[in-house]
Amino acid sequence: MYELRGVTKRYTRGKDVVHALDGVDLTIGDGDRLVIQGPTGGGKSTLLQMLGGLDRPTSGEVVLDGTDLAELPEARLTRVRSENIGFVFQSFNLIPTLTAQENVETALVPLGIKAADRRERAAEALKSVGLGERLGHLPSELSGGQQQRVAIARALVKQPKVLLADEPTGNLDESMRDEIMDVLERMWKEHGLTFVMVTHDSALAKKAPRLATIRKGRITVTEKTGA
Ligand SMILES: Nc1ncnc2c1ncn2[C@@H]1O[C@H](COP(=O)(O)OP(=O)(O)OP(=O)(O)O)[C@@H](O)[C@H]1O
Ligand SMILES: [Mg+2]
Repeated sequence: MYELRGVTKRYTRGKDVVHALDGVDLTIGDGDRLVIQGPTGGGKSTLLQMLGGLDRPTSGEVVLDGTDLAELPEARLTRVRSENIGFVFQSFNLIPTLTAQENVETALVPLGIKAADRRERAAEALKSVGLGERLGHLPSELSGGQQQRVAIARALVKQPKVLLADEPTGNLDESMRDEIMDVLERMWKEHGLTFVMVTHDSALAKKAPRLATIRKGRITVTEKTGA
């Protein structure tokens, strides 16, 4: 579970200071799904970076299962990330020279898993997102929706506790969007993930049992009872 207390993030550029996050308090339970919305520049991606340990807050605590990520030395933070946290981004972020299978395998390299096991687990993960027939394809030989499926398989192959998605359907056309949302929803349920997703899709936001809105670095959480 996540417990964020008084999280601020300031970016300084010359005389300009941007308060990307301004005193965020937030609890996210194990297995919860939280949807984050808000205007552009509001601080959504910055918050995901804090949750994922990709960056550190200027002040405050980002506690994951009792450990404050803000305080961890870099090597341990990298380890927490590679073991526990899967990321999916708007722009897929696949390595263009690697096949689908090899892209997924990259997530297992830092965990010291043997090559044969990596191959097997990557193939399994790709099958589970419906890409069992595309293992040897390069990203350029896949549609946008298929590339995002590879990215989802790469995020989940290590069996993380947490999945963070930043506008995962932002680069996809409408028909692909629903497909990818369905895959994410299924993965959340099957893997019992703690799932935090930034999305501009308002239909999805309406369905979400717990919705956070971030404006000017400040967060408001709406809970829907009975959802
Ligand atoms: N590395 C950086 N250096 C300076 N300012 C930054 C940096 N990263 C983000 N910001 C600023 O912090 C604020 C929050 O940015 P963030 O990317 O979190 O917004 P967002 O809610 O994800 O927006 P969008 O919907 O456009 O993705 C913005 O004003 C942005 O310009
Ligand atoms: Mg963003």
